[in-house]
Amino acid sequence: MPELMVVAKGLDNVVVDDTALSRVDGEKGELIYRGYDIDELAGCSFEQVCHLFMYGELPSKEHEKEMRTNLQKRYAIPQEIVDFICRRAQSDHPMATLRTSVSMLSCCIEEAPLNDSAALISMALDLIAKTGTIAAAINRVRLNKNPVAPNVSFGYSKNFIYMCNGEIPEDIAVKTMDTAMVLHIDHGFNASTFTARVVTSSLSDMISAVTAAIGSLKGPLHGGANTAVMEMLLEIGSLENVKPWVEKALSEKKKIMGFGRRIYRVSDPRAKHLKRMSQEWGERAHEKKWFQMSEAIERLMLEKKNINANVDFYSASTYYMMGIEPKMYTPIFAVARMVGWTAHVMEQLKDNRLMRPEAHYVGPLGKIYK
Ligand code: COA
Repeated sequence: MPELMVVAKGLDNVVVDDTALSRVDGEKGELIYRGYDIDELAGCSFEQVCHLFMYGELPSKEHEKEMRTNLQKRYAIPQEIVDFICRRAQSDHPMATLRTSVSMLSCCIEEAPLNDSAALISMALDLIAKTGTIAAAINRVRLNKNPVAPNVSFGYSKNFIYMCNGEIPEDIAVKTMDTAMVLHIDHGFNASTFTARVVTSSLSDMISAVTAAIGSLKGPLHGGANTAVMEMLLEIGSLENVKPWVEKALSEKKKIMGFGRRIYRVSDPRAKHLKRMSQEWGERAHEKKWFQMSEAIERLMLEKKNINANVDFYSASTYYMMGIEPKMYTPIFAVARMVGWTAHVMEQLKDNRLMRPEAHYVGPLGKIYK
């Protein structure tokens, strides 16, 4: 390795490429999707923001309807994937079932030529539409229930909750899911998005890229944190136990899930929306405990470590109050992030160069084989 080369462990502060999809400003605590502040978009539907990522602009009413129809006609998944989910979802990690199921989509989604933008968008919409159906089916089987076929007259979030519960959801649940999905769609070159772009850079296909991205999202340092947050809240169990539990964990140098970010020096701009929804759902359900415990942990983390809550922290108690099983939180993250991943795959292809970093070899040299 040349002398001036430094090892950028974790690629900290390394700028890998340009992107026009999202900008994370860690100093200001700002997240921008294609020019729009996340606070502007938090009230939008999933379809509107999906259109923004696929076509670069927020849609007119007519184009939003077109996007909804385009997704609706793609909701269905092949029987062989449903059969696979029925066989594996109870025993395997839901992200493992999701990863394999999404990979299996190559049995029904034709591989788009890498220079055909329209075919790539169509493939992206297929992946976005079908990932929701796959995740909902995994949820059903884990609950020992039969998967529910999609309702093609429902919008994305409404259909997703409907397929999870088998009941037509209330408007407030649809609104919450829309907001949660929108907040999770993209976040710069996070680990899973970077993974998707690395796979794409070898001119592999979109399904391979997003399958690898799901593998990356599964880890507790990335998307897996939301599940870990709820497991932590359940383990703590009561408001009184928050302080001793957190203090003990910190004294043992444990990471508190749902806190910290490589990039933000201030609050994660998505967290406040999720915090509001967590509080609202607690009040609706007359079960304020999880929100109160979360707030107490947030205060302690600021006081003891000056570390803010991230997107995963309040999404956990929000989903819990909506009646969703904790292990499903990361698959829900994947459903939303599929929009970002596929958009990044297409952006990477527009100006591609193989991603091939160097390694600093620290092993032995000069060994002789006799
Ligand atoms: N709980 C307690 N301490 C934390 C912490 C957390 N969640 N996150 C960071 N820290 C502390 C570390 O202990 C370290 O302190 P030290 O310098 O005294 O050793 C310092 O902050 C830097 O942490 P580090 O792990 O090096 O930061 P990173 O940029 O590599 O990691 C995360 C970023 C997100 C992986 C890390 O904050 C984390 O593991 N968070 C919990 C998992 C999580 O919520 N992930 C979802 C991210 S959206």
